[in-house]
Amino acid sequence: MIGIFDSGVGGMTVALAVEQLLPHYPLLYLGDIARAPYGTKSDRIIIDYSLDNTKFLVDNGAKLIIIACNTAASLATDKLRQEFNVPIIEVISPAVEQAMICSQKGRIGIIGTRATIRSSAHEAMILAQHPQYKVFSTACPLLVPLVEEGWIAKRETKMILRRYLHHLKDQQIDTLVLGCTHYLLLKHLIQARIGRKVTLIDSSVAVAEYLQRYLPNQTALTPDPSHDPSRNRYFVTDLTESAQILAAKIFHRPIELQLTQ
Ligand code: DGL
Repeated sequence: MIGIFDSGVGGMTVALAVEQLLPHYPLLYLGDIARAPYGTKSDRIIIDYSLDNTKFLVDNGAKLIIIACNTAASLATDKLRQEFNVPIIEVISPAVEQAMICSQKGRIGIIGTRATIRSSAHEAMILAQHPQYKVFSTACPLLVPLVEEGWIAKRETKMILRRYLHHLKDQQIDTLVLGCTHYLLLKHLIQARIGRKVTLIDSSVAVAEYLQRYLPNQTALTPDPSHDPSRNRYFVTDLTESAQILAAKIFHRPIELQLTQ
């Protein structure tokens, strides 16, 4: 079973991409809604919460973990790899790999939560391979609550996006990494604002494609041809109405969220 965790339901964008590409692998999802958002918290707290989430998934049978949350991925990956004896896959490396393949001019933008941008995880990976590239990072802390409120097509959201993307537009980037689970839901607005010439990198698809290449070498995880994605299980640490609405919006079908306790 593949375990996926996020600070909330935004990481279901990753679960959906994995389910679409690898429908015969059972998934176990955990959204830590009770303690979200992570993006505004300190490094130590984000690492502690990520340890708890991984333990829950491993205790419930996960043989591989995907850190769907960019914030947790940028701060807790090393610690999780030290502490757990299962492969730990994170959303950042596959997205960065795709960005480096797509970028013609070597001018890449990154948007994410405050904690993700503070960690410089994306930038460090890009510059390690291409020291001559220019990376422009912008924290967009207001976007997560706007998506959670369902304010996706609102004028106010477009205004806030304009403010956040202004600097990146000036820097003539040709590739932009959507370094947060929630931004996928704003993809069309971001594309319209940043311009059609800029390639957007969707980390959920990037990690699912990476997994598709990676899984055939994993003996602990084999596909179950009789598995149906409707049997995947979705746990949350708190059950809220907005979580249920967002989950259904992501999957385009109702999702049964189960409380962890
Ligand atoms: N899941 C987080 C991420 O991808 C965004 C929400 C949060 O701040 O917890 O960075």
